[in-house]
Amino acid sequence: MSVPRAPCILVVDDEPNQLVTISRILARQGHVVLTADNGTAALEVLGREAVDVMITDLNMPVMDGMTLLREVADLTARPSTIVLTGYGTIQSAVDAMKHGAADYLIKPCNPDELKLVIDRQLEMRALRREVSDLRREVKRHQRYGALVGNSAPMRAVYDIIESVSKNKSTVLITGASGTGKELVARTLHARSPWSAGPFVAVNCGAVSETLLDSQLFGHRRGAFTDAVGDQEGLFQAAHRGTLFLDEVSEIPLGLQVKFLRAVQEREVLPVGATRPKKVDVRIVAATNKDLRQEMSEGRFREDLFYRLNVVRLELPSLTARPEDVEPLIEHFVEKMAASYGVDPKTISARARARLLAYPWPGTARELQNVIERAFAVSDAAEIDIADIEPALGPTLGGAEVTASREAPPKLQTLEEAERELIVTALHEASGNKNEAARILGIDRQRLYRKIEKYQLN
Ligand SMILES: Nc1ncnc2c1ncn2[C@@H]1O[C@H](COP(=O)(O)OP(=O)(O)OP(=O)(O)O)[C@@H](O)[C@H]1O
Ligand SMILES: [Mg+2]
Repeated sequence: MSVPRAPCILVVDDEPNQLVTISRILARQGHVVLTADNGTAALEVLGREAVDVMITDLNMPVMDGMTLLREVADLTARPSTIVLTGYGTIQSAVDAMKHGAADYLIKPCNPDELKLVIDRQLEMRALRREVSDLRREVKRHQRYGALVGNSAPMRAVYDIIESVSKNKSTVLITGASGTGKELVARTLHARSPWSAGPFVAVNCGAVSETLLDSQLFGHRRGAFTDAVGDQEGLFQAAHRGTLFLDEVSEIPLGLQVKFLRAVQEREVLPVGATRPKKVDVRIVAATNKDLRQEMSEGRFREDLFYRLNVVRLELPSLTARPEDVEPLIEHFVEKMAASYGVDPKTISARARARLLAYPWPGTARELQNVIERAFAVSDAAEIDIADIEPALGPTLGGAEVTASREAPPKLQTLEEAERELIVTALHEASGNKNEAARILGIDRQRLYRKIEKYQLN
């Protein structure tokens, strides 16, 4: 990391009085100030010092301001440039901006104006530097925090995360199940200034309306039969941090007004309470449903949608980013090795070729599942084609049926069978619980209870 230094400003003017006045103001504002009394002298300074902003007069002997601007435009490490101009010569300022000047100041300039214009340039330079640092970092490591991939659609996602991470705008993350919505929400939190604060995830589809109400907003003692004491809600638990509202489409209609109020006012009313409480949180919502469709069918309030849809992050499927498959394979191999407590496996040439050629109609999670399966079915140090083939869809090369190495089925207990069915359904649904519940023909809440019972999370 580079050591932060005071910004360096070069002032160029042939009038000694101007030079002194402006330099003094700038020095008082905490800048390092250098001066030059003509263009040639200015170029000399730029050759040996790292200057952030150059303020230059236009009419000067030896080399005038306009020529200086043209010369500066050709430098590799060039400062932002601001021209100084008199009242009658605004047109020359406009010309100067055509030659690369970023802004202009009218003489005599007052300290506030000077500060405003300089600060704006410094801010823009800092932002440009951050974005280019980020791009360089992503390119080198093929990843951004925990998010793997350097494809154009992912870089667009990173740029948005980077630009909103420092403010508290509400973010709505959309994308199919397994595209990485939760991972993006966590990354957003990790890049924010309040990353040391809590990250609280709520699955809005997991519980009944009454339970969700008290879970989110808390309750007062005696608000209902089981409320033996005051209970703080998750909104409050996320105070000074991030509240992640997963499966936000599932908030029951009856609760949406209360919810809207909380999002809008950053204020919650615990069940049974009379006075609302202020909370300071960033809200990140996620859904794999089309909220517009939900709205048009009357299941989601329009006003709530617009409150949540302030910044939108649409996550791409794997099909849209084939160049990320390779770094994702490496990433998942390492991740699974860590989770299985073994050394990372190598991948045979055949298996790698197969994984790279596969069209990946789904999401990163599906790729992860394929790699995980390879760790689950074999102890070998290398992943070979037989470890991955059964997990991939019908192949381009026809049915490459591998010899079954499964033992004949032994009798299971009912619970074992149920657990297996649920795992299969979850796998079939790529982890999407709504879909898995549909496949199993049970309601979502029941599925959640089973998942908890068998610790499938
Ligand atoms: N870009 C990525 N880099 C690394 N891992 C990823 C990426 N995208 C997804 N994953 C992994 O894929 C899995 C699914 O991601 P995640 O749970 O964030 O998806 P989701 O969109 O929230 O899915 P759902 O809608 O089912 O909740 C996780 O294990 C996650 O770590
Ligand atoms: Mg999720």
